[in-house]
Amino acid sequence: MKQKIIMKLLTGMAGLGMVLGVATAYATPEQDKQDLIKFYASKFPNVKLEDYVYGALALDPDSKAQYDAIMEFPPFDSQVEAGRKMWETPFKNGKTYADCLPNGGKQIAGNYPMFDEAKGKVVTLEDVVNDCRVANGEAPFKISDPKTIGLLGSYMRTLSDGMIMNIKVQGPKAVAAYEDGKRTFFSRRGQLNFACASCHVQNAGNHLRSELISPVVGQAVHWPVFRGGDTLVTLQNRYTGCFKQVRAVPPAEDSAAMNNLEYFHSAMSNGLPMKASVFRK
Ligand code: HEC
Repeated sequence: MKQKIIMKLLTGMAGLGMVLGVATAYATPEQDKQDLIKFYASKFPNVKLEDYVYGALALDPDSKAQYDAIMEFPPFDSQVEAGRKMWETPFKNGKTYADCLPNGGKQIAGNYPMFDEAKGKVVTLEDVVNDCRVANGEAPFKISDPKTIGLLGSYMRTLSDGMIMNIKVQGPKAVAAYEDGKRTFFSRRGQLNFACASCHVQNAGNHLRSELISPVVGQAVHWPVFRGGDTLVTLQNRYTGCFKQVRAVPPAEDSAAMNNLEYFHSAMSNGLPMKASVFRK
């Protein structure tokens, strides 16, 4: 059944060369993003750029109205509250996260993932939180674990609400990491031979079973999400789920492959405002 629906999607994908073509030559992140925006603008002429932060909801007014109603009294408030307690609880040495994150942890999420020149690799905001814990004598969290770092993030990331996503890709090593993430996004894989782009570029706006597929632009600004209202899902948890959807083996969360993917993927949301945490179906 699943296979059949996906095969149907595939056959609707003639002419996908255009946007996939950009994956071969080096283009700046800004050019890549503009190419995508141009592609979507022709598909969805009535969707405003600022509405891409709503993902698939921007393409479906009924679901968007439901979302707005749910977000008035979010069913996940108590979890975000638990995240706030984690954020405010000092380490054993008396220091707090605010003491060791840049700018006290406020208005920073839109800078991550960041290429860390000293480490020679991409670091996510979660990596920085763990470095902060280790520097203060605490054990690092298991990366992407919804119950610990995810929960902390559900509050911590609200401190960056309204910040404009601003991923920078400067210098040859940063460019190489970005290109690696971009390759992951555009490469077909898995038993079903799908790339991320097969769904979130070529098939954005089409249905996969009961789900409307969102465009990649705007996908990175609103994490974590609470699926069904109470199940916390981090961005890399979601990547893992999407890899599995096409029966591909996902890279480990927080591996270089995943972090580079997050680097490219987040840069495609540059210029859009951050907003944590939100409801998703
Ligand atoms: C077979 C189609 C398919 C493929 C391939 C796929 N996804 Fe998805 N993805 C979906 C569907 C369906 C959803 C849920 C509806 C939506 O929000 O788009 C989703 C949701 C997402 C979301 C959450 C969007 C939001 O606003 O909550 C992200 C992020 C995402 N995918 C990233 C990826 C990445 C990265 C890859 C490649 C590793 C990928 N997807 C591959 C179908 C796919």
